[in-house]
Amino acid sequence: MQLLLLCWIFLLFPGAGAEEIIGGHTARPHSRPYMAFIQFLIEKDRKRCGGVLVRKDFVLTAAHCKGSSMNVILGAHDINKKERDQQKILVSRAIPHPDYYSSNFTNDIMLLKLKKKASITKSVKPLILPGLKSRVRPGQVCSTAGWGRVAPGSKFSEQLQEVQLKVQAEKECELLFSTYYNRSTQICMGEPRQRKNGFQGDSGGPLVCLNEIQGIFSYTRKNGMPPGVFTKVLSFLPWIKRTMKQTMLGD
Ligand SMILES: *[C@@H]1O[C@H](CO)[C@@H](O)[C@H](O)[C@H]1NC(C)=O
Ligand SMILES: *[C@@H]1O[C@H](CO)[C@@H](O)[C@H](O)[C@H]1NC(C)=O
Repeated sequence: MQLLLLCWIFLLFPGAGAEEIIGGHTARPHSRPYMAFIQFLIEKDRKRCGGVLVRKDFVLTAAHCKGSSMNVILGAHDINKKERDQQKILVSRAIPHPDYYSSNFTNDIMLLKLKKKASITKSVKPLILPGLKSRVRPGQVCSTAGWGRVAPGSKFSEQLQEVQLKVQAEKECELLFSTYYNRSTQICMGEPRQRKNGFQGDSGGPLVCLNEIQGIFSYTRKNGMPPGVFTKVLSFLPWIKRTMKQTMLGD
C-alpha cells in the first residue's frame, strides 16, 4: 500500500501539498466570487487547496484535501493580504465521499460544512451545480482557478490565477493514467502540447464550464504537463444533494 502510494506520487502530483496554475494569468480581483481558499494541517505541515462555494454553508473540494484545523477564506484575491472582502470561516465537518480511495484517487470529492453561513456580497457568492442534462464535450473550453504553484518548485501564487483548458478525448487520459482514469467519474482537461494546467495547491478547485461547476481538480503529472484530471461533479450530484440535505445546520 505504502509502496503503491509512493510510486503513484512519483508519477502524479496530487493537489494537496502540491498543485498550481501553469500557463494562466492573474484573475480580475473578485471576478470569481465562488472561489474558496482552504487551509489545513497534515502532520503539522500547512497545506492549501482550492474549493468552490456551492451553498452559503457548504464548500465543495477534493477528498485528498482533508486535514486537521480546516478553515476556508472566501472573497479573497490576494491571499497574503487582509482584504476587507475576505470572510474566514472554520469548517465544522469535512465529509469526504464514502468510497474515496487515496491510493488511486477514486471518488476524489468532499463537502465541507461551514461553522457559520457565509454572508453573500459582491465578492462572495455560490456557483450553481450542473444541471442533470448538462454535458462537457471534447473541444469545449472551460476554465479553472487557484492559488497554487505556477511551475514545479516555484512559490505559491499570492493572487488568484486562472487558466482556460480544453476538454480532451477520454483516451488521452486513459493512455496516460491507465487504470486510475475512469471516464464515468472523471474529466480529462488540457491540450497535451500546451503548457496550461492546474498544479500543486490548485487541488479541489472548480472546473467552470458555461457558469456551472463541472469538475473538481484531482491530479496531474508530477512535471505539471497536461492533461490534468478533474472529478466529474455531474456523476456525484445525488451524493452532493443528499449530503447537504442530511447535514443539519450547526452540525
Ligand atoms: C482503487 O482502490 C480501491 C481500494 O484499494 C479498489 O477497491 C479499487 O478497485 C481501485 N480502483 C481502481 C480504478 O483501481
Ligand atoms: C468507473 O466508475 C464507475 C462508477 O463509480 C464504476 O461503476 C466502474 O466500475 C468504474 N470502472 C472501473 C474500470 O473501475
